[in-house]
Amino acid sequence: MFLRIFIDSAEIEEIKKACEWGVIDGATTNPSLIKKAVNRRNGKITMEDYIKEILKTVPGPVSLEVIAVKADEMVEQAKLLYEKFSPYGEVVIKIPVNPSLGDDGLDFDGLKAIKQLSKEGIPVNCTLVMTPEQAILAAKAGATYVSPFAGRIDDYIRAKMGMKIGVDFKKGDYFDYNLICRVRDLRLNEIISGCGSVVEAYKNQDARNLTYISQDNGVFSGVDLVAKIVKIYRNYGYKTQVIASSIRNARQVREVAEVGADIATLPFEVILEMVRHYKTLEGMRDFMSDVVPQYEEIFRRK
Ligand code: E4P
Repeated sequence: MFLRIFIDSAEIEEIKKACEWGVIDGATTNPSLIKKAVNRRNGKITMEDYIKEILKTVPGPVSLEVIAVKADEMVEQAKLLYEKFSPYGEVVIKIPVNPSLGDDGLDFDGLKAIKQLSKEGIPVNCTLVMTPEQAILAAKAGATYVSPFAGRIDDYIRAKMGMKIGVDFKKGDYFDYNLICRVRDLRLNEIISGCGSVVEAYKNQDARNLTYISQDNGVFSGVDLVAKIVKIYRNYGYKTQVIASSIRNARQVREVAEVGADIATLPFEVILEMVRHYKTLEGMRDFMSDVVPQYEEIFRRK
């Protein structure tokens, strides 16, 4: 068993290049990634041919997302995508865990669709998973894959703490939850040191607020979300594979591997970041400048 790497992109040039590197096991797309790819080509491509090319390039599963929100329509679209594109590669259908757009009563339609599709043998990647509870439901419904969005959970917790993207942090920045904990605990100690009893400390509103904003209902970071899902699935022997998604940097990849994710789906830039290090570059430059003519001689063809 090893960590499989998917490319999280709909950019055919990126996908081709990454596949040539020999490290890609699959790909994930979503409507936003497809929109970016199409816009970049000013609508001068047929989407069908484009998707076929992606499928022909990738040596493994490619997730394609439905755009309907009602269970029966999602099933219909899933079948259409599966039938149309399966001749070109390994199609997996992405279904949102909860497709509701508000008070439309559609909260369980994703799970209903997953159940139906899994009965019919169509593999599903249950997407937009933000909690371990959603992941439990997705596995029970029969999803082949589940995609917890690690980066978006980090964004959410940072937003709860009042940090602004583009101002206090950039999209690709590592979310150092251990640092947050250390600072938070110091502040918590200050707050509760004046409390006369455990109950007083437990009820202290400032302490509660501080605890509340630095997590999402007991999920402490995107990596923690992935870790919790992996643990629950292993506890019960669920076969659903965990695709750590919404990954923003190489350190996150290492951490989701440490907690046992089956797959990490990565933007092109993150794959590049994984192979680079300042000291590797420096070492290469040193070694290359030390090559003596006698050593070069060995490599000359006679
Ligand atoms: C995964 O399948 C999603 O398409 C993707 O990882 C979302 O990433 P983002 O949160 O960086 O948009």
